[in-house]
Amino acid sequence: MRHKELEQFPETFLWGSASAAYQVEGAYQDDGKGISVWDTFVKQPGTTFKDTNGDVAVDHYHRFKEDIALMAELGLKAYRFSIAWSRIFPKGKGQLNHAGLDFYSQLIDELLKYNIEPIVTIYHWDLPQTLQDEYGGWESRQIIEDFTNYAKVLFDAFSDRVNYWVSLNEQNVFITHGYLLGTHPPAVRDVKRMFAANHIANLANASVIKAFKEGGYSGQIGPSFNYGPTYAFDSDPLNVLAKIDTEELMGFFWLDVYATGKYPRTVIKQLEKLQLVPVITTADQQLLASGIPDFIGLNYYQTATVKASTSDSFSGDMSMNNSGKKGTSKELEIPRVSKFVKNPYLEQTNWDWTIDPVGIRIALRTIESRYQLPVLITENGLGEYDKLENGEIHDPYRIEYLQKHLQEIQEAITDGVQVLGYCTWSFTDLLSWLNGYQKRYGFVYVDRDESSERTLTRYKKDSFYWYQKVIETNGDYL
Ligand code: BG6
Repeated sequence: MRHKELEQFPETFLWGSASAAYQVEGAYQDDGKGISVWDTFVKQPGTTFKDTNGDVAVDHYHRFKEDIALMAELGLKAYRFSIAWSRIFPKGKGQLNHAGLDFYSQLIDELLKYNIEPIVTIYHWDLPQTLQDEYGGWESRQIIEDFTNYAKVLFDAFSDRVNYWVSLNEQNVFITHGYLLGTHPPAVRDVKRMFAANHIANLANASVIKAFKEGGYSGQIGPSFNYGPTYAFDSDPLNVLAKIDTEELMGFFWLDVYATGKYPRTVIKQLEKLQLVPVITTADQQLLASGIPDFIGLNYYQTATVKASTSDSFSGDMSMNNSGKKGTSKELEIPRVSKFVKNPYLEQTNWDWTIDPVGIRIALRTIESRYQLPVLITENGLGEYDKLENGEIHDPYRIEYLQKHLQEIQEAITDGVQVLGYCTWSFTDLLSWLNGYQKRYGFVYVDRDESSERTLTRYKKDSFYWYQKVIETNGDYL
């Protein structure tokens, strides 16, 4: 039997919200910025929803003061944003672009003016195109040095004002979409190349964390990982085994490396049989072990439910529902591992993402019991259609979503998980990489759509005022 009073959110809890450079900034060629792989990819017809791109995005580059004033009005304690590598080094390395550094310096100062803690993501997918062209980006070990040099420039420039750093955003997503599904740049579909690129990304991540620690900078650093627990469909032992296999393959394969420096043995064993193990040297193992983060950044959106697979071939749709037409995604089957099925207990969004607030508590508990590391929730939110009517946006569905997730986070804190903070995705509406502008996540509506930049005027949604009260009361309002 359990009975307990919920614990309060800590006084230092970082009530935040998040974004990423390519999704908000626009100004894709301004002030010396170089071209990134996303600038190039989106220009190839058919790669994104209605061929949308981030050339202008929501024009945050020119409107950051207005956006930060809105953050201050809401009462945010933290704002997570990413730095575009190609603004700092237009060609990824070599010549430094001071105008790029200046932009982020001003942005950080503007946040601090309102006592908003900056949380800086060093890499949120917008690799400088030159590095892709010169040596194949994440497929070459040269990126380890270039990424580390770039990160060191940021540490030197900003660590006097920045206390929280995110090394890589969702390595699992940019690697699987980029090298297996072919839906992100460089649009490769090759499982062997995927595992090889992934190992190099692990090394780059560890190298940056190591450089941060050895540099003696103050503050904390960790990667953000897209993790949603996997459930067995029922208590059939084979389905339970499928759950374990899936979670190791899709979650712990990355999280274990971050938190312990070691790959899970069971996955490596399977990869050996399929001749998919990347080259892992002794020096690599040492590097991985010396790049252990201070926290795990958790990006949580949904959980998965699986049955055992007896099939020998992939089936279903490996891409996702990018249309916003509910029920259009197909159930995926990983041969001899698992078949993804609908969870009868849970609802789904219009983009077929499962809504599961308890899942975030399970994710937090799993990270705590497996790694005993603090967690910074770096993304969580609901992408939905919103309607602007007479200058107002009524989004009770988003309030309900966030409220239920926060209640479960409070449960997890009460359970004993160390949660540093919570960043919703996102602050303003922004470009969804593959879903255009119609899938909205923000507290602030931005007047633009796929066909037109319109006025780009900002409007506060009902959820803005709701989160304002939550923060004001340090979570009591929940
Ligand atoms: C995360 C990314 O995967 O999910 C964000 O870090 C992204 O950049 C968010 O926007 C929501 O995904 P989507 O596909 O709905 O935009």
